[in-house]
Amino acid sequence: MSEKEKTCQTRWLKTNEISMKEYRKALEDAASLLRDGELVAFPTETVYGLGGNALDAEAAAKIYSAKGRPSDNPLIVHISYIDMLEPLVEEIPSVCRRLAFEFWPGPLTMILPKSDQVPMATTGGLDTVAVRMPAHGVALDLIDTCGLPLAAPSANRSGKPSPTRGEHVYHDLQGRIPMVLDAGAVEIGLESTIIDLSRPEPVILRPGKITYDDLKPFVPRLKEYHHPSGREIERPKAPGMKYTHYAPEGTMIMLPLHVEDDFFRALESKEKTAILASTEKIARWRRFCPDVTWIALGAEDDLDSLAHNLFHALRQCDLLDMETIYIESFSEDGLGEALMNRIRKASSCPLLIEKQ
Ligand code: TXA
Ligand code: MG
Repeated sequence: MSEKEKTCQTRWLKTNEISMKEYRKALEDAASLLRDGELVAFPTETVYGLGGNALDAEAAAKIYSAKGRPSDNPLIVHISYIDMLEPLVEEIPSVCRRLAFEFWPGPLTMILPKSDQVPMATTGGLDTVAVRMPAHGVALDLIDTCGLPLAAPSANRSGKPSPTRGEHVYHDLQGRIPMVLDAGAVEIGLESTIIDLSRPEPVILRPGKITYDDLKPFVPRLKEYHHPSGREIERPKAPGMKYTHYAPEGTMIMLPLHVEDDFFRALESKEKTAILASTEKIARWRRFCPDVTWIALGAEDDLDSLAHNLFHALRQCDLLDMETIYIESFSEDGLGEALMNRIRKASSCPLLIEKQ
């Protein structure tokens, strides 16, 4: 970003490296920015969020502008206790209360018909609102301190992977927002599951850590959108999903489940190529192709760490100016569904070398 485009100094505050007294002061400072209609980036258990007062249309406009995001892409409203939900929605259906009790604070976003108090600017012109209670001490402390529901999309510049570390936020938004609360790496690393409860048959709009199987016992009419083969079929999408997301600058290609050695022979002399894979695959594959850059995502059967590391690895590819990025395909079980959903979105040509 050029010096001219920068509108403010960004205060980058590491909450794990300060005293309790300094932390309380930082929360007060952040809360007063938010009450003044300003923006503060904060950690959640999924990814970092870029927060502004959800009830203030001008704060929503600032969020869109800081992210460079189209303003018809609605924002998720973050709350810290259940009483904050009532004023935001028309009514709270019993299934919502049940899910809230079961999964909040946690990585579940629920969509409900909105009340008049929530401005259209926050919901991108929709008459529904997305709400969640994040499971992160700093997020909850911040919302408690300012006493406001916070509209917060992921705190990346539009088109970049969601930020999973404070430095990702600072890299993307430095000079555009007044404050970043940095609590280190987040726990999950993929965005929340979104369930739309505003329709007669609820549907998952975005897969996340909380899976279809987790939700189904509480939502008998929840629609299933998978073939028995595990392949995803066309399902309703969150409005934001029509935009390009999570894509690294280089061309990313998903590897088939079983990679053959002629693939590595073809790669041998390629420069600026990265392969993102599990530690087990790297240990074996690198013997066939020493020249490319290998980026480990975690152990093959540890979906939590694969998910945790994905977005950071995509950002590393950009920092290293990788032109071509190959990524391993993983199991679609449990969190694997969300992981593969994000990998497919980031891949420019997922089927290029896929043989079935
Ligand atoms: O984990 C998360 O959900 C993170 C953290 C910060 O909470 N937030 C996040 O927000 O991922 P964002 O803005 O990057 O993604 C929100 C998604 C978008 O795809 C948007 O279209 C969808 O939620 N969404 C928001 N409100 C909606 C609504 N009323 N109806 C349908 N989709 C909605
Ligand atoms: Mg986002």
